[in-house]
Amino acid sequence: MVIRIAAVGDVHLDEDVVGRFRPALEELPECADVLLLAGDLTRHGTEAEARCVAEEFGGLTVPVVTVLGNHDHQCDQVPQVTKVLEDAGITVLEGNGVVLDCAGGRLGIAGVKGFGGGFAGRCASDFGEPEMKAFVRTTTESADRLGAALRSLDCDMLVALTHYAPVPDTLVGEPLEIYPFLGSYQLGQAIDSAPTALAVHGHAHAGTERGTTPGGVRVRNVAHPVIKQAYSVFHVGDQLDTDQVSPIGQSGSQRSWS
Ligand SMILES: [Fe+2]
Ligand SMILES: [Fe+2]
Repeated sequence: MVIRIAAVGDVHLDEDVVGRFRPALEELPECADVLLLAGDLTRHGTEAEARCVAEEFGGLTVPVVTVLGNHDHQCDQVPQVTKVLEDAGITVLEGNGVVLDCAGGRLGIAGVKGFGGGFAGRCASDFGEPEMKAFVRTTTESADRLGAALRSLDCDMLVALTHYAPVPDTLVGEPLEIYPFLGSYQLGQAIDSAPTALAVHGHAHAGTERGTTPGGVRVRNVAHPVIKQAYSVFHVGDQLDTDQVSPIGQSGSQRSWS
């Protein structure tokens, strides 16, 4: 029993990029049961940019599930952006989950944007000024919602979808100084609180593709500037968890926005 998961993040669409991903997306049914988008779908989170995302990723023959990224929050139009995406048939997760019936079984996907905070030994703590406490509380609440969503899903295979990174492994290549703004160990703890088979994130454009949580869960940074193709495909199942090297999916776009 195998479920095939395609994923990409940080496509940062606007009018000038529309159409670049589409040829590879049309081939998705041949290699994947679902497409996950790991946030930063837009550059500034405008409704107009969201319509570009809807045009590019809407109407596909496989389900599309996404979380939003920090860029998608920039213009404070999250409700409008979310509505445009959902009207295009894209499922937008934030602290909740969805279960999809795939040929290889029931796939549970729990998603949250996540937030920063840093990693073991180098992280922000809930101490001092109210602003610092609010920063840490944002991360804690986000991670708590991810963990609760993961543990609530009744499925055969479980995947965590975030924008921010749950481990430092996939940040290698980024400046150390900005690690606390790229992810949090608390997301990793949430992922490890459930029988998660795969964790997918974006945000770290200069990072590394592969990592592992302390609990042994496979983590993949699918930011488009990292994977340099329209999407990567991962298999999860009873007998094998593998990364597929897809011969298709070259979008030609290797932009590097953060
Ligand atoms: Fe981001
Ligand atoms: Fe990004």
